[in-house]
Amino acid sequence: MNKDNKDNIPWWQSAVFYQIYPKSFQDSNHDGIGDISGIVSRLPYLHQLGIDAIWLSPVYSSPNVDNGYDIDNYYAILAEFGTMADVEQLITKAKSFGIRIIMDLVVNHTSDQHSWFLEAEKGNKKYQDYYIWQKEPPNTLQSFFGGTAWTFNEKQNRYYLHLFSKHQPDLNWENPNMRTEIWEMMRFWIDKGIGGFRLDVIDLIGKQPEKEVLGNGPNLHTYLQEMHREVLKETDLVTIGETGSVTPETAPLYTAPERNELSMVFQFQHMALDEQTGHSKWALKKLSVPELKKVLSKWQTALPENAWNSLFWSNHDQPRILSRWGDLNYPLESGKMLAILLHLMRGTPFIYQGEEIGMTNFPIHSAKQIQDIESLNFYHSQQEAGIAKEKIFEAINTKGRDNARTPMQWDDSLFGGFSTVSPWYPINPNHEQINVEANLNHPNSLFFTYQKLIALRKKYPIIIWGNYELLDTPPTIFAYKRNYEHETWLVCANFSDQKTFYSFSEKPEMTIISNYDATYSTLDQLNLRPYETFVVKLTP
Ligand code: NOJ
Repeated sequence: MNKDNKDNIPWWQSAVFYQIYPKSFQDSNHDGIGDISGIVSRLPYLHQLGIDAIWLSPVYSSPNVDNGYDIDNYYAILAEFGTMADVEQLITKAKSFGIRIIMDLVVNHTSDQHSWFLEAEKGNKKYQDYYIWQKEPPNTLQSFFGGTAWTFNEKQNRYYLHLFSKHQPDLNWENPNMRTEIWEMMRFWIDKGIGGFRLDVIDLIGKQPEKEVLGNGPNLHTYLQEMHREVLKETDLVTIGETGSVTPETAPLYTAPERNELSMVFQFQHMALDEQTGHSKWALKKLSVPELKKVLSKWQTALPENAWNSLFWSNHDQPRILSRWGDLNYPLESGKMLAILLHLMRGTPFIYQGEEIGMTNFPIHSAKQIQDIESLNFYHSQQEAGIAKEKIFEAINTKGRDNARTPMQWDDSLFGGFSTVSPWYPINPNHEQINVEANLNHPNSLFFTYQKLIALRKKYPIIIWGNYELLDTPPTIFAYKRNYEHETWLVCANFSDQKTFYSFSEKPEMTIISNYDATYSTLDQLNLRPYETFVVKLTP
């Protein structure tokens, strides 16, 4: 990457991505489940928003134990989502809107119904070596979904490793034949004209389970370099690695261009700020704005100039950002504040479906409403441990993955415009107020702030290339500067429901965007309203 030679800039550095969770985006065949034709029908909406690429959560054939992250055939499409022809149509139609499709590559594990695992169970040596087996469970390694990571297989009379559910056996990346099959499968998808891959939990593929080494194992980067050499070299495909273990120190190992690995990674340090360190994700901690400033700023500044960042507030595994860092008493103001703060940073922004219209968490009050395997496991283990129900629901409502997976709220009709029949998961009752139609009907809505932020990124190179400098301000003012070629912008957010007085000595030349529709002719003696946020270009 060389910012002085703009012709060499990879397309994804100036792009904005949008994540679709297919099951919950748009139903087109009246079965209450989102599908690929549904996504095709909503491309004009996404084009109106202005995004460049769609990260499509898995649509492959799957028993759906983990909503598609348990794949039993990488070459087939889950029938409830449609057909391969539908996916081809999606790729082609999206292209006509200037939108690329990014497939989810889930290759740390397969489903236990994948033919490889079924063959392995039958005793086929070739496929046995595609997975990780032990005679005795060698250690107390825990699955990310709770409980042991080793399950006894009766047919094989030994244990296999699964870092997620027992229906998601981990692949053995040390096996070169297995890797060759993955490269082949990736080429199959590339030949269909996709724009790249999001790589599920890719930091785990170099694991050494017997030593309890998971993320960042010794061969991880060798495998990623082999992937690059075999599949990605001389393409303009984007690759975004989901890397729960990454730190600003290890990120360049994945993303420094000369290493020929990935385009960018998803880091999760800002997502863990409501968790107690050293405990499971369910052990809650109060959020702190200064901590958020610290973590995000560290990621903005600690990477070498040529290692690229991704930016996100939400995805299908996280609670809704408005319910987390926003303020439901000030949904519009705080929603816009969050959008502006993130989209003005350096890196490629990802929007998760519904974030752009202000969707919120779904309130769960009974075990019957829990769908997600991770939350279900948590619920049962806590119940067995005698934990009070209110405590369990508090954790699930704060951190559970179902929060983000409720159907997209398109309008105020009975099923929110998502479907004509009762959906697979109840639509959030607040869809009567919070929906796409209402957003599009109000020029002041959150949607139009996202739309404007995307347009600004296309217009001003400072948003893409400017360097980042956190300003020393009171704890609840989040302010930073971007500097690029003699130009400086100042971004300021009052991250609080309280009025706050503050003065900057700098002089504004032009207001770029603000969430109170204000123009700033001075930054002296500001009387900032709740969540008031603005971006100004400073007088040189
Ligand atoms: C990360 C995915 O985002 C999540 O949804 C999934 O459960 C795990 N990886 C396992 O594939």
